[in-house]
Amino acid sequence: MSVRHRVQVSGSVSASVECADDQRLLDAFLRNNVYLPNSCNQGTCGTCRVKVTCGSVSAPTVDDDVLTPELQAEGYVLACQSTPDSDVTIEAPTESSAPRHRLRDLTGTVSEIRALARDTVAVFVDVTEPLDFSAGQYMEITVPGAGLSRPYSMANPPSTDSTLEFHVRRVAGGTATDRWIFDSLSSGNRVDLRGPWGDFVHDLETTGPMILLAGGTGLAPLKSIALEALSLDPEREVHLYHGVRYADDLYESDFWRSIGVAHPGFRYQPCVSRETGVGRPGYVGDAVADDFATLRGAVAYVCGPPAMVDGAIKACRRRRMSARHIHREKYTPATELASVEG
Ligand code: FAD
Ligand code: FES
Repeated sequence: MSVRHRVQVSGSVSASVECADDQRLLDAFLRNNVYLPNSCNQGTCGTCRVKVTCGSVSAPTVDDDVLTPELQAEGYVLACQSTPDSDVTIEAPTESSAPRHRLRDLTGTVSEIRALARDTVAVFVDVTEPLDFSAGQYMEITVPGAGLSRPYSMANPPSTDSTLEFHVRRVAGGTATDRWIFDSLSSGNRVDLRGPWGDFVHDLETTGPMILLAGGTGLAPLKSIALEALSLDPEREVHLYHGVRYADDLYESDFWRSIGVAHPGFRYQPCVSRETGVGRPGYVGDAVADDFATLRGAVAYVCGPPAMVDGAIKACRRRRMSARHIHREKYTPATELASVEG
């Protein structure tokens, strides 16, 4: 039976929550309206770091790239990986600026699995009631029998609809993708989800040109953001760059072209890095740098594999986009330690 401990939060946030000894601190916070910065929830980004000032926590070994040895020596831990061993006091450096949506456990039913491209599918999941989330956020989906879950971003915009849309790309040998979603998951199957997670969200305050840079299924949260932005302002200037390696990896091109017909400010640019003939040759970052002399005043949302995200951010910075206007989400693979449920 699990034991519950009290976690006192001080610093920019002041709160007190109960957390079971087999529950991660971040999970307890987000269920109790304490919103700390968070991104991957799998110990690979370092966004959720907090300082333990009293009491002790357990956590898997943290990679030095994620949390430097100096910070670890000062008592910093990852809230998404740490469970309390006793009552604990922590200092939270900042409060999340993302909108607040309480973390929930949901059960859904797969209503459709649709092939989108080579090795990419859309999975539609009906949940019992509409999910309160922000465009750009993700859910963790439990992989049955594997004792782990994986993050997948919502591709649908927030609405009163209770169907969630996910885009999933097969990873050869992958536990969630190759050995479950692409192997045996079917319409009618039940799935367990937890969320919403993440600070990669549509900033509803900005109105300037929007540059969306996606790598592969990093298109999913950008679809949610683009559709929400265009429903709020049908004239909004939105430039979507979708980068893939091969033409066969592109998907929903016709859908995006139809959005361009309906919305005069929308531009769709498929970019193909390893073959020519379809779309623009090269990387999304290079395409953006070619298209704009300056990106001052624009806002960017960048999502996909880590190297693609880093390259796209550099291109935006080269074109003078302000760092605080660049929102990013990296689809970093989970480490084995971080993927164990709890
Ligand atoms: P694993 O069993 O985790 O990996 C198997 C092996 O492949 C491991 O050696 C691993 O290191 C390696 N590997 C894993 N991924 C890759 C990769 N991309 N390229 C090369 N090697 C790899 N994916 C989506 O398709 N759609 C999404 O919407 C999505 N959203 C995400 C949101 C967040 C915040 C994060 C962090 C990741 C997201 N991902 C998304 C990635 C996804 O969560 C899984 O990492 C991915 O589906 C692989 O899981 P798996 O269990 O099949 O593979
Ligand atoms: Fe904890 Fe990424 S949210 S390391």
